[in-house]
Amino acid sequence: MFYCVQKYRGTGLGKPLFQKVMDIVGDNNATLTGVVKMSAKYASDFGFDKVPEHWHLFSSLKCADVVIPDKVSEKYTTKLWSDVDYEALTAYDRTICVRDRKKMMTNWFNLPDTFTRVVFDESGKIVGYSTIRLVSKNKMSPAPFYADNLEAAEVLLKDLLNMIPNWQQYASFGFLHPECNKDPLKLLEKFAKNKESVSSATFIRSQFTKKLIPTPDQKVYALADCAHQFV
Ligand SMILES: CC(C)(COP(=O)(O)OP(=O)(O)OC[C@H]1O[C@@H](n2cnc3c(N)ncnc32)[C@H](O)[C@@H]1OP(=O)(O)O)[C@@H](O)C(=O)NCCC(=O)NCCS
Repeated sequence: MFYCVQKYRGTGLGKPLFQKVMDIVGDNNATLTGVVKMSAKYASDFGFDKVPEHWHLFSSLKCADVVIPDKVSEKYTTKLWSDVDYEALTAYDRTICVRDRKKMMTNWFNLPDTFTRVVFDESGKIVGYSTIRLVSKNKMSPAPFYADNLEAAEVLLKDLLNMIPNWQQYASFGFLHPECNKDPLKLLEKFAKNKESVSSATFIRSQFTKKLIPTPDQKVYALADCAHQFV
């Protein structure tokens, strides 16, 4: 997170603060997600020049334009995260992220106004999970949202929306997803009254100082957290 109160922006407060943080980072590999306007600055001034080919798009849908599909795949089922073997769930997470996020994940899941489900295939194998939070501006934020394929993602999104009381009262929700993965857009279109209701724009880019850490982009429908996670 890099933020300065609006009236003081551009007056030279932010850069020395950022430099202090980089002094702590030292020679370690550091990562951030840079917004379009700031991305080149992070690369040129602070060495965040190892980047994947793609940007991340923010693709969203107003809740007023959502129609939950009657029919989704019967090959997949979901459970509440608390009813799932946590070792198995965190092992799945390790197929997404090289970091051990065991402690971090429970922190996400236990936040107030937060809904997390896990999706399974017919053999009982975990094939995705997602958390939706009720956030500011009356929005819902699915983050993270991971699924091995679009069919599993549809079942996961349907079950998650259905467990949120009066989800229709919220303004919108959207996925922060790698541009090279088109499935999040297809997922939103499947839940939209028409394709035109889905909007999409380039938003951020993952950037590293020393080494680009690869991610399984085909499974990533939404980053876990756009300030602190590269996947
Ligand atoms: C980004 C932010 C924290 C920078 O803080 P700041 O106090 O305004 O930064 P500074 O005045 O020290 O300027 C640092 C440099 O960034 C540049 N910069 C700052 N905001 C910028 C913007 N929106 N677009 C392009 N360049 C910008 C400045 O021109 C300056 O460049 P220089 O080193 O060549 O002089 C502040 O603009 C902010 O809060 N923005 C909104 C939140 C945001 O976008 N955060 C970044 C998310 S990746």
